[in-house]
Amino acid sequence: MKLLVILLFSGLITGCRGNSSHSLPPKLLLVSFDGFRADYLQNYEFPHLQNFIKEGILVEHVKNVFITKTFPNHYSIVTGLYEESHGIVANSMYDVITKKHFSDLDDKDPFWWNEAVPIWVTNQLQENRSSAAAMWPGTDVPIHNTTPSYFMNYSSSVSFEERLNNITTWLINSNPPVTFATLYWEEPDASGHKYGPEDKENMYRVLKEIDDLIGELVHKLKVLGLWENLNVIITSDHGMTQCSKDRLINLDRCIDNSSYALIDLTPVAAVLPKINTTEVYNKLKVCSPHMNVYLKEDIPARFHYQHNNRIQPIILVADEGWTIVLNKSLPKLGDHGYDNSLSSMHPFLAAHGPAFHKGYKHNTINSVDIYPMMCHILGLKPRPNNGTFGHTKCLLVDQWCINLPEAVGIVIGALLVLTTLTGLIIIMQNRLSVPRPFSRLQLQEDDDDPLIE
Ligand SMILES: *[C@@H]1O[C@H](CO)[C@@H](O)[C@H](O)[C@H]1NC(C)=O
Ligand SMILES: *[C@@H]1O[C@H](CO)[C@@H](O)[C@H](O)[C@H]1NC(C)=O
Ligand SMILES: *[C@@H]1O[C@H](CO)[C@@H](O)[C@H](O)[C@H]1NC(C)=O
Ligand SMILES: *[C@@H]1O[C@H](CO)[C@@H](O)[C@H](O)[C@H]1NC(C)=O
Ligand SMILES: *[C@@H]1O[C@H](CO)[C@@H](O)[C@H](O)[C@H]1NC(C)=O
Ligand SMILES: *[C@@H]1O[C@H](CO)[C@@H](O)[C@H](O)[C@H]1NC(C)=O
Ligand SMILES: *[C@@H]1O[C@H](CO)[C@@H](O)[C@H](O)[C@H]1NC(C)=O
Ligand SMILES: *[C@@H]1O[C@H](CO)[C@@H](O)[C@H](O)[C@H]1NC(C)=O
Ligand SMILES: [Zn+2]
Repeated sequence: MKLLVILLFSGLITGCRGNSSHSLPPKLLLVSFDGFRADYLQNYEFPHLQNFIKEGILVEHVKNVFITKTFPNHYSIVTGLYEESHGIVANSMYDVITKKHFSDLDDKDPFWWNEAVPIWVTNQLQENRSSAAAMWPGTDVPIHNTTPSYFMNYSSSVSFEERLNNITTWLINSNPPVTFATLYWEEPDASGHKYGPEDKENMYRVLKEIDDLIGELVHKLKVLGLWENLNVIITSDHGMTQCSKDRLINLDRCIDNSSYALIDLTPVAAVLPKINTTEVYNKLKVCSPHMNVYLKEDIPARFHYQHNNRIQPIILVADEGWTIVLNKSLPKLGDHGYDNSLSSMHPFLAAHGPAFHKGYKHNTINSVDIYPMMCHILGLKPRPNNGTFGHTKCLLVDQWCINLPEAVGIVIGALLVLTTLTGLIIIMQNRLSVPRPFSRLQLQEDDDDPLIE
């Protein structure tokens, strides 16, 4: 009980720390290395990233959102919404009503983004705060008529160094100050597609380069005096799995390509039938045992992928490692987009800074939980979202949380104390009750005495 009281008390005290640390506006840099599969961390060496984690926190698996593609997941991280609710439901989309097309190369029409409000916009609605972006899907688009105050047009040819230099310059020199910033890098996604995650030799080289970039990032922040006060989150949008020429699903073998339009191909195909949905569905349903075929209204609820006009009438979901093609050979040795319950699709999350514990490891959170956590760190009121702030409390120094091992410890401790107390009480009772028969006898004797007398 005492242990419990002490723990509760220390929790309260940490919960009510003074506001001295809040005198400077909190700042947050959100970094994404595209396609950084969670278990790369276990299977390869990352000396710089491990140092970062040693002084910060690690979430080993982040359960991301379906479909596990780049644009949809990056937008979920910064809005806390499932894809059906933020409207970026794929890297390639078609809107039947407006007849507009979206692709990762043609993404600048705010129409696609305006169903949600990303955190960089909300941050700028606060007085005296600006946001900056060294790329991140959507940051070069005027979403609700607002871009970050400082941003770059997307271009994969801008080096990591230039992105890092410019974002740190903005973090230091701007007025009103930049309090939220993003940094995006295309690897290890590009190499994961090219070689496949099972190509250990090439992935070793690529992941070493990523670790060196993290080393550069930390070094730069230290040199600039940003390291102690800046909160840094390093995460990713999705993982990667191995594909094979032996695992192809060829739609042309099952259905005439003139009966439907293909909005998105693999591993989740978005099918827009031209005339008869039932007919197209019936043909696709029996096409391959290695993919699930859903009418829009039957898409499993756990995907949270149904209630949006941009989700097509039929979707095909390939099994892990299978590739949907149109009478073509295998396009990539690695891919993602599959079922978000597959651990190969999950990224990780690491963080460092005054808002985060030091040396703490956590099993899992959802990618939609990142948004309410970031809002909390920045002191922003989160917009309605699908995340749960409680899931991230154990990561944050200003929150009181009991994780499972601690809870089990407390329960066992309390049980031990209770058992001991009960034992003591029983012994005491026994001791007290031992003399009783004698006293009764004595009393009886006393009582009897007058009778005898
Ligand atoms: C909190 O901040 C206010 C204004 O900056 C200051 O007057 C007050 O003393 C601070 N309180 C604590 C506990 O630091
Ligand atoms: C915003 O910044 C300006 C100039 O730096 C300052 O005068 C003003 O008080 C600030 N407003 C708030 C609400 O902090
Ligand atoms: C980065 O900053 C430099 C110096 O201000 C500028 O010349 C360059 O265009 C910036 N790079 C990008 C991609 O915006
Ligand atoms: C981005 O590109 C547009 C059009 O190409 C241009 O007008 C704008 O100045 C660019 N913005 C930045 C920040 O480079
Ligand atoms: C598939 O492609 C081959 C040539 O690459 C062609 O001969 C064949 O007719 C095509 N099949 C279908 C169903 O389109
Ligand atoms: C449909 O298949 C024919 C050959 O069977 C091909 O010429 C045509 O390009 C295909 N159309 C699409 C949209 O793939
Ligand atoms: C669509 O196809 C199904 C199955 O082939 C058929 O039963 C149905 O009558 C068709 N509907 C229309 C509107 O053509
Ligand atoms: C996700 O959040 C949005 C905004 O609050 C809400 O409209 C939607 O119903 C939520 N989705 C689920 C599955 O709860
Ligand atoms: Zn990718």
